[in-house]
Amino acid sequence: MTKQKVEQMAQENTDEVNAEDINVEAAIPKTVEEPKMEKLTIQDLPGVGAATAEKLEAAGYRDLMSIAVATLGQLAETAGVSESVGRKMINAARDSMKMGFETGMDILKKRELVVKISTGSQNFDTLMGGGFETNAITECFGEFGSGKTQIGHILAVNMLKEDATSTVVYIDTENTFRPERIIQLAEGAGIDPEEVLSRIMVARAYNSDHQMLLTEKVDSLITEQGKNVKLVVVDSLTSHFRAEFIGRGTLAERQQKLNRHMHALAKIASSHNICVYVTNQVMAKPDQFFGDPTTSIGGHIVAHASTFRVYLRKGRKGSRVAKLIDAPNLADGECCFEVTSPGLVDVN
Ligand code: GTP
Ligand code: MG
Repeated sequence: MTKQKVEQMAQENTDEVNAEDINVEAAIPKTVEEPKMEKLTIQDLPGVGAATAEKLEAAGYRDLMSIAVATLGQLAETAGVSESVGRKMINAARDSMKMGFETGMDILKKRELVVKISTGSQNFDTLMGGGFETNAITECFGEFGSGKTQIGHILAVNMLKEDATSTVVYIDTENTFRPERIIQLAEGAGIDPEEVLSRIMVARAYNSDHQMLLTEKVDSLITEQGKNVKLVVVDSLTSHFRAEFIGRGTLAERQQKLNRHMHALAKIASSHNICVYVTNQVMAKPDQFFGDPTTSIGGHIVAHASTFRVYLRKGRKGSRVAKLIDAPNLADGECCFEVTSPGLVDVN
């Protein structure tokens, strides 16, 4: 698609009309060849010159998808573009990405690309509908020692076992990533530990801003360095936010920031077909007299943004219980497993 074509399409869409409502395909003569999305860059969008493109790039907008899913406010804030230019840019990016309606069949075809990462425990995999899915955020929350970090390590190894060309990103906020444990698990899975370690990119996040910055960097690992990132672990998602925003007065600000972080994670999950695994702590609910007296951190913001939510707790004799409490297409349920040196095993 040429630059004029994109501009023309944007012109047609500048009104309040949604890009989705316009049948762009019908408007393009059939002789025009299929748009080649890889060829278009941000600079091809209407109203984007070299200077704006540079500002956008510096703020992490590197491909059309990032513009297509951006909001007017974000573009205005980062690149100083006016509302009308911003709208044209977003519409043009959406059109070129064909982000309108799709048939159920199209979605089904996309679902076939979803990879399910095994936990090693058959019970746990069954509970999750085959494993931890790409193109989704899965949150495990539970008390200390419930196995959240162990699951992060195990998913990393099993992802690399499944696809030896993939890369795992591990954002470590609590300094609990252990290469020694990865070696042990890789040996348990029967794959080369050094090869595994060389494909896990670990970054220690020092505060919540740093954590958010690292998340944005994942995009450039894929688009600039050509890494085939399939799993992003954020362990723990909430510890910095919890430590930095103390007291009721800061709650709104914390939630806003956490919301932005969850959006960024959702964006990389869906735009690159990545499994995002986040861990979350629990806090005591003093007013709860019946049932479990704990609740997860981050409230509705984290709960709604996560595609799958699993509650982990300690069971009998060193076992762990995973309870699926939210999933788009699976029944709620429970399973029991144990963390052992070579990996997770079922407990019946
Ligand atoms: P916090 O980060 O403190 O909230 O806890 P967590 O939920 O991340 O717990 P984690 O995943 O670190 O689980 C720790 C538990 O896993 C330990 O109490 C052990 O039971 C088990 N575990 C950890 N490493 C090993 C290991 O090498 N071998 C075996 N058999 N068990 C292990
Ligand atoms: Mg942990």
